[in-house]
Amino acid sequence: MAAARDTQTKLGRTLISRQSILIVDFGSQYTQLIARRVRELRVYCEIVSFSQAVEKLREMQPAGIILSGGPDSVCREQSPRVAPEVFAQGIPVLGICYGLQLIAHSLGGAVVPGNQREFGRAILEVEEEGELFAGLPRTFRVWMSHGDRVESLPAGFRALAQSGKILAAAGNEECRIWGLQFHPEVVHTQHGTAILENFLTRICACRGDWTMAAFIDSAVDRIRRKIGPGAAICGLSGGVDSTVAACLVHKAIGDRLNCIFVDNGLLRKNEYASVLSSFRDHLHLKVAGVPAAERFLSRLEGIEEPEQKRKIIGEEFIRIFEEEARKFGDAKFLVQGTLYPDVIESTSVLGPSAVIKSHHNVGGLPLEMELALVEPLRELFKDEVRKVGEELGMDPRFVHRQPFPGPGLAVRIIGPVTAERLALLRDADAVVQEEVEKEGLGRVVWQAFAVLLPVRSVGVMGDDRTYENVAALRVVTSQDGMTADWARLPHELLERISSRIVNEIRGINRVVYDITSKPPGTIEWE
Ligand code: XMP
Repeated sequence: MAAARDTQTKLGRTLISRQSILIVDFGSQYTQLIARRVRELRVYCEIVSFSQAVEKLREMQPAGIILSGGPDSVCREQSPRVAPEVFAQGIPVLGICYGLQLIAHSLGGAVVPGNQREFGRAILEVEEEGELFAGLPRTFRVWMSHGDRVESLPAGFRALAQSGKILAAAGNEECRIWGLQFHPEVVHTQHGTAILENFLTRICACRGDWTMAAFIDSAVDRIRRKIGPGAAICGLSGGVDSTVAACLVHKAIGDRLNCIFVDNGLLRKNEYASVLSSFRDHLHLKVAGVPAAERFLSRLEGIEEPEQKRKIIGEEFIRIFEEEARKFGDAKFLVQGTLYPDVIESTSVLGPSAVIKSHHNVGGLPLEMELALVEPLRELFKDEVRKVGEELGMDPRFVHRQPFPGPGLAVRIIGPVTAERLALLRDADAVVQEEVEKEGLGRVVWQAFAVLLPVRSVGVMGDDRTYENVAALRVVTSQDGMTADWARLPHELLERISSRIVNEIRGINRVVYDITSKPPGTIEWE
């Protein structure tokens, strides 16, 4: 029986995998973007570091391979390479930038260091339409970013497009290998998505039928097989990721999933009660609510240093989580809402990126508990998680909530956290939420919130002089939180937020607007 199930699983995996794309990463800042584009075209893909390419290739048996760009030069002997096996399977390959140069270099062509870096917009002239440029204009704008250039092509390859004197695309139809010097994945390249679509559908014969509904079916199936008749626990943060992860697992194992939602006293106004009731009444999750505000506040007393705040909150959370989890002694699995960017970041060719802030997942793995991890969203990007949430029937207001940091308002109160300052910030934050929502910008901006500064300023109200706190307003747009820009809010909206905060909240008499992008700033102030 077990053997039959195993065979079935393997078979299922093969069927899925023949429709998937393997992206080999050479450290380009755009690798994740390639993956997003491929998935937008409804083709499942995974990113793997160049050093694991062959192993993954054997396991995954993809329909096609994309070699990413990268900062290195193939002219350097130690630069990242892949085994020749990658080119010898008959599986279609598309090299992008460094990927093209690697193809040329590995298969007998010549790559030379350029005299200067070509960076930015360039005009592409298609010489041979072939499968890759099928249906596209003969000239259009593309985005280049490279130093080296291909001087001569390997035998059997033909130049397909030029940009000025530079070779911009080449291919060998017989060997099913193509390369582009420019980046089709960035929005500045016209028809970039169409080129990728041609590669996926015409060359790799992908059907483009990877949908969220299909994902949910296979995820539920995998979760059931993993957890078997056992039970699981899940720490909910109120954010989208842990909620969607919990809903998926709940769909798979029902009330054998036990959720825990902690009030750490650092949540937004009315958040604890409203989120808890949504979990129970709307999502039908079995949730233990843990009111623990005082525990957190007493441990945070007098603490100013941001990382120390994070550490204390993380530790306290884990302690409470362990206490609660003991009540579900038979649970052997821990559900976490880990997303694909977290997975890639920790396995990227460049190694784990430097810790700028010690982000912790709420429900971070208690070290001494022997629980197996269930991470049903490991393969998804944030926008895909939202689609899964919608597909599962979750209320759009829930699915499109702004990200909220695990340490909550503690990292938005600069300096020590007290109950009084929390109350001030909560009220100011509520005004920001209301006004941004009313303006219809709730889904347009990535995050909008207030920060309470450790500064007092002089003001005048009526005939009285005031000497009160300053609140900063932080509203940013972003795709994924990795980079962000300050939102160009209408002045009238800024004015309404400012005057409501100053008039309605006793204790704040000045509002300033943060116009720092990320980088060099971060989204949160601490
Ligand atoms: P920064 O401030 O690093 O934030 O630009 C990027 C995104 O991460 C959120 N953030 C956190 N999330 N624990 C979390 O779970 C944290 O300690 C934390 N710090 C920042 C932030 O709200 C933004 O969306």
